[in-house]
Amino acid sequence: VNQSGAVRAWILAYLLVAGAGLGALVGVGCAVKANFCPWRKPPAQTSTDGRTLYAANCAVCHGPDLHGGTNANAPSLVAFAAAGYTEDELAKKISRGKPLGGMPRFERILTPEQIRAVARFIISQRGGRG
Ligand code: HEC
Repeated sequence: VNQSGAVRAWILAYLLVAGAGLGALVGVGCAVKANFCPWRKPPAQTSTDGRTLYAANCAVCHGPDLHGGTNANAPSLVAFAAAGYTEDELAKKISRGKPLGGMPRFERILTPEQIRAVARFIISQRGGRG
């Protein structure tokens, strides 16, 4: 083999190994139902009730009473900054999430209508114990 042939062979071998590694990673991800499995569609939720959707999707982190701190350092949704968000602002924050901060993006998990319903539910829970 001449030199450039050897280089090409190495590049090919590298790509093969890298591809196999990536494939294995995604395969394992899908097997353990991780979020990044590219061909697993999130289960479609049918409820349009904000309270139900909150309980199913948010309470695990933001707490059943919306005061936060249950998981992943999730903040209260009825006190501090969150107490002032409009429905639009809440919907935007819920859709986009903050993946690096531990807040999932819900735009692929819930429909825009469902996200609005959750936002309205959050607003309805303000006041009282704050
Ligand atoms: C896996 C845990 C987790 C789940 C599930 C979760 N959140 Fe969060 N959420 C967080 C964390 C952590 C933050 C703070 C992110 C940051 O600021 O970096 C956050 C931030 C937020 C904020 C912004 C709060 C602020 O003061 O700016 C809103 C609004 C919010 N979440 C609503 C929701 C709603 C509604 C749901 C359900 C549809 C939900 N979250 C599900 C962890 C979670």
